[in-house]
Amino acid sequence: MIETPDIPFSRPCFLGPELDYVRQAVESGGTLAGGGLFNKTCERILGERLGSPALLTTSGTHALELAAMLLDLKDGDEIIAPSFTFVSSVNAFLLRGARPRFVDNDRFGNIDLDQVEAAITPKTRAVAVVHYAGNSCDMERLAKICRARGVALVEDAAQSLGARYSGKPLGTFGAFGCVSFHDTKNLTCGEGGALIVNDRDKLARAEILREKGTNRSQFLQGLVDKYTWIDVGSSYVLSELNAAYLLAQLERIDAITEARGKIWKRYREELAASARGLGAELLDTPPGCTPNYHAFGIVFASPGVRAKFIAHMKSRGVTTPFHYVALHTSPYGKKFLMGKESLANCMRLSDGLVRLPIFHGLGDDEQTYIIKEIRNFADKRA
Ligand SMILES: Cc1ncc(COP(=O)(O)O)c(C=O)c1O
Repeated sequence: MIETPDIPFSRPCFLGPELDYVRQAVESGGTLAGGGLFNKTCERILGERLGSPALLTTSGTHALELAAMLLDLKDGDEIIAPSFTFVSSVNAFLLRGARPRFVDNDRFGNIDLDQVEAAITPKTRAVAVVHYAGNSCDMERLAKICRARGVALVEDAAQSLGARYSGKPLGTFGAFGCVSFHDTKNLTCGEGGALIVNDRDKLARAEILREKGTNRSQFLQGLVDKYTWIDVGSSYVLSELNAAYLLAQLERIDAITEARGKIWKRYREELAASARGLGAELLDTPPGCTPNYHAFGIVFASPGVRAKFIAHMKSRGVTTPFHYVALHTSPYGKKFLMGKESLANCMRLSDGLVRLPIFHGLGDDEQTYIIKEIRNFADKRA
């Protein structure tokens, strides 16, 4: 009898050297809180890769919250966000008193730029663009729109470290880029994130807000002789243990991206015919993008076929989850609807998308098995 495997959708990336660095952090006798050598080294590597200062944070959500705080939002302000996204893309701004206006996604899962342009009003303070699956919309056009209309651009780059648009790293187009190192992301330290501060005038304040509203960071750099409370803030500094774990992966980011790319391209090649047969679409790379291969998606034309696909794969031991429930249809999101939204692509993705297992360490034989089971499903329905 053939044993049914158990192939998860994601396994946290683990390369091995993470443990050496964590051990070094512990045995050094130095700080295990933030501001230590591993934090500094990760921030230096990120800063060099991205060409902008990076501050490690306790999560991608917290990087977004920092960005929202730095915008000095007030009650009555509005931000524009896609409806097909993670709750944090919107919650961060809501916590500062702003109201979200939902616009549609494009067919790749990114924000629809025509709708962004149409949704900007005198109340709009920011566009929260989300780089879905490690790809983006036309970021040059979006940056131009935001500049012309005097609106801040915040990039939810939670999924997109290592990806580029028009050769420029995602996370570096807006005032702020917000990266996640949650354990489902390409690089991880369990929970963690980074704020990319492209608007350098905001860097000093970003450090203060991250340190509970104190100038502790200046104190640690020897710039002031004691630290004190000078602004609002919260506790968003990453532990040295997490930074140590993360460093091992940051040092190998290109190899991690390449390994994911190999898996992604094999799915693309070997599933094209089955997807056509099912009347489904493979989620493609948008023009101008160099992906980091964060996710591989299949978009089914109907939720019914999608449900059968998920059940089939589950019965064969493979987890293939759908993704976001459109925020504007959620119990909390509904109340922000203006009544004029047209969110067809968002619903197409919310109702039709599934994601295939893709993670560092997915074996060739595991992928062969997944592809075979998808082909079986397609053949049975033909
Ligand atoms: C698009 C998007 N935004 C924000 C987040 C939040 O990141 P974190 O889980 O690190 O808080 C995630 C991660 O799940 C995400 O996928």
